Order: sequence, then structure tokens, then C-alpha cells
Amino acid sequence: MPNFLEQYRYLWPQTNLQTATNWRTTEDKQVYLRDLPESLEELSNDSRWPGFFPSPICLVTTTNGSQIALEKVVGASIVNRFPYVLALSFCTQELSQRHHVRSAFTDMLESSGSVAVQFLPPGEELDQAMKAIATVPEEKTHSRIADTGLTAHKALTNDAPVFDSAYMVYEAKLVKPGKDFAGQPIYSQPWVDVGSHRVYFLEINAIQLRQDIAEGRSQILWRSLPGWQPQYELQKPLSVLGDSVEDSSYKKGYTPHYVFPSAGTIAFEADSVENGMAVKYLPPLPEDQVEVDNDRARWPCFFPSSAGMITSWAEDGTPNLMPCGSTTIVSRHPLVITPCISYAKINERYAPRVSLDIIRKTGKFGCGVPFINDVVIDAIKYAGNTSLAKDPQKIVRAGLQVEPNDWAPVLPALPIHFDCQVIGEVTLGTHIMFLGEVRQIRVRADVTPENPIEWLPWANIVRLNG
Ligand SMILES: Cc1cc2nc3c(=O)[nH]c(=O)nc-3n(C[C@H](O)[C@H](O)[C@H](O)COP(=O)(O)O)c2cc1C
Repeated sequence: MPNFLEQYRYLWPQTNLQTATNWRTTEDKQVYLRDLPESLEELSNDSRWPGFFPSPICLVTTTNGSQIALEKVVGASIVNRFPYVLALSFCTQELSQRHHVRSAFTDMLESSGSVAVQFLPPGEELDQAMKAIATVPEEKTHSRIADTGLTAHKALTNDAPVFDSAYMVYEAKLVKPGKDFAGQPIYSQPWVDVGSHRVYFLEINAIQLRQDIAEGRSQILWRSLPGWQPQYELQKPLSVLGDSVEDSSYKKGYTPHYVFPSAGTIAFEADSVENGMAVKYLPPLPEDQVEVDNDRARWPCFFPSSAGMITSWAEDGTPNLMPCGSTTIVSRHPLVITPCISYAKINERYAPRVSLDIIRKTGKFGCGVPFINDVVIDAIKYAGNTSLAKDPQKIVRAGLQVEPNDWAPVLPALPIHFDCQVIGEVTLGTHIMFLGEVRQIRVRADVTPENPIEWLPWANIVRLNG
């Protein structure tokens, strides 16, 4: 990692879990456990996330016509493919100094219904924007943009301000009621209240990408998984099974060292170039957006995301694992994790998942945190391309061991695991968002402040020579 990026690193844990109140150790001393939800008192003392989940950060602007506003969002996530929908969650309850109501911002968002979600390269301008957010209080969000000292102009499809130094912008508006491909009504409401937060569903109208990136003269580098060094064996040796089972002709590739654009990614198909930005406009109706071809159905541009390793027990006791890129945390209290799982029959890429049926029936799932490690990356590739319907020994063949845990299968190779109770689901068009309230967190004992998980929530931009 280049030196200048070090200041953006997030390390977890910051305190020793062995001695922390609220955490206990298993008899074999291999795992720390914490039960959730915590009391409001515990929360007001320390409302940092009690367990780490890799989340990107973005800047979001909006306007009500007379004022403009700036906020940062941790864990913005693409949650549905057709229509193309982004979820942003904002705190609606006063939990602590860190987690407080963002109503000045959300009032403006709700009045205009539109936002510009933007990304600045790590460096001085990003620091100025983050400083304005940290130092100008929420009720004065309207003066934050001036406080950044940065220049801005209006977005193309709405009036939200866009920083001149943004390298990528997603313009989006609150979703309208519609129907999915099976004729089922969706989006009777453009948001859903989940615990301490309101989750807004925003349909993407336009994507702007700096021209030099769109043309491949510069590249976005995104490390989609955290780094971590296990201090003891990842798992016990596995008995070797027969060859992998080919699930389908379509294989979704995967690398945590993502480079966009590059040979392995889709090209950004711009409709026009405006102010040095290549722009792609998205048609408003999902029927006009849908791409049946597996490759063309890929996301049309980079958006930073990580992955949750979603586990569940099938009715006959078989463990299942589904790597899920559209996984994020939407609420702090209770802590709610939301994997978005495909239910629509569009092509091999977007097909109903077995995990969907299982989780609906049991109301329970686990979410493991993957990290940069060959065993884990191979497992993501296999389990992310092979349905349990084709390979009942999927997890073992993916190269992972399963530990018995009543709630959901635990993958002992992973540093963190969340046990989640489904408290609701939202139908989004091609994906179902499960709202999973975290009931217990398990952390391997070799995750310590001296040997932390290391995460970079921002992508970096590099200029290619020549
Ligand atoms: C990196 C990666 C991310 C993925 N993200 C998602 C996702 O967000 N939603 C989804 O429905 N499928 C996603 N998939 C595909 C599923 O993991 C895959 O279809 C899996 O085989 C489903 O298993 P199941 O049918 O046994 O539940 C992803 C796959 C990979 C490799």
C-alpha cells in the first residue's frame, strides 16, 4: 500500500476483546463472543460498531432548492440490479455523539428526492471534505460545502452539488412505486425504517466517470477485502472430496484486488462527455434496462463493495454458503446486516438462489467476514458460482470447514462471524433485502489490537504511464 494511503486505514479492534466488558471467551479460549443488542446505556458510552464489517465510504450531497447539503455515508450499497438501486442509510435516533439524528440532511433529501453520491481520490481535497463533515454540525449541513473550500457544480439530472474533484458520481432519485418482472408491486415506500436508521432506496439515473478513467488512461484500484494475518491454522485439515461440480457455463470471476477499467472488467459505455466526465444515462424503466446477456448484465461501472459470507442450515441439516457482494450494515441499534439475494429469473447471473429459500424458511443466517487469503478467495469463487442445488457438499468442496453452531454454520477460517435473525425483508425488483438483526458476534482470538484486521474504505486512482 502506498504510504500516503496509510492515514486512511481503519484497524479493528482498537481495544483488547479479552479484557473488554460485554465480551466473553469460549472454554477453549479460541473465540470471543458478544451478545447483542446491547443496552442504550452501553450504546451511549460507546456506539462504535461492536464488530467489524468492511464498508466503503462515500460523500453524498442533496438540495431542497434553496439550500445544499453534504454528508458522508458508510456502507452505501448497490442493492438491486434492475432497476439499478442504491441504498443509503441515515441515523434517525439520538444514540450517542457519533450516532445522532441527521434530519437536516434527510429533510432536504426527502424534499427534492435526489442525491449525488460521489467519490474523491484520497488526498487533500477528500480530507477537506471529510473535515467539513466532521467539524460543521449536522444542523448546519447547508454550510458544509462552502466550508470545504472546494469548487462544485450542479449534477446533470438533478440540482445536487458535485465536487469538481470527484472522479465518479452516481446521480440518483428516490424510487417510485412500480412492479417487478413477475408483476409484483415494489417500492410502495421509497424508504424503510430499520432500528436507529432510515434506509433510502435511490434509483440511479446517471453515472459520471472521469474521462481519463473511462478511457483507461487512469485506473481505479479497490481492495474489496480487508487484510489480516491469522496467527494459528485457519482450520483443521479437510478430507478431500471429488472434483468440483460445474454449476453453470457462466462463471463470475473474483479478485479482491479490483482494477477498473481493466481486461477483466466491463468497458464504461458513455453516452456523452460533459466537463471532462464520461456520462452514462440509465433508462427509467427496468424493462428497458434489463440485459439478458450474462456479461452485459454486469454492473455498468465500478461501485465500491466488499462481501459477506452468508451461511445457513438447509432443512436437512446441510450447511450452505453464499458469498454476497450486496451486503451492508444499515442500522446501528439494533445492529442490522442486510444481504441482498437474487430472486428474479433473468439469466444465469441473476437467478433465484437456494439461500433465499432456506433463509426465508428458517429466519436465520450467519455472515462471515472474508479477508485476503488464498483459501478464502478460492472459496468465494467456488461457492459464489455453485448453487447448493448442484453440490450438496458445496462448502467442503469450496475448501472450507464448518463448525457446529445452532444458529448458522460458522466458518472457522474467517476472523468474524455474525449470527443474524431475520426481522423483515424488502422486495427490490431482482433482489430481496433481508434485514438481519445481529444476535451474537464471534471473533477469533487471534484478532487483537496487535494483530488487527486492516481495511481501506476508499478506492485509489492511479495514472498509467504513456
Ligand atoms: C463475489 C461474489 C459476489 C456475489 N454477490 C451476490 C449478491 O450480492 N447477491 C446474489 O444474489 N448473489 C451474489 N453472488 C452469487 C451467489 O453467491 C451464487 O449464485 C451462489 O452460488 C448462490 O448459492 P445458492 O444457490 O446455494 O444459495 C455473488 C457471487 C460472487 C462470486
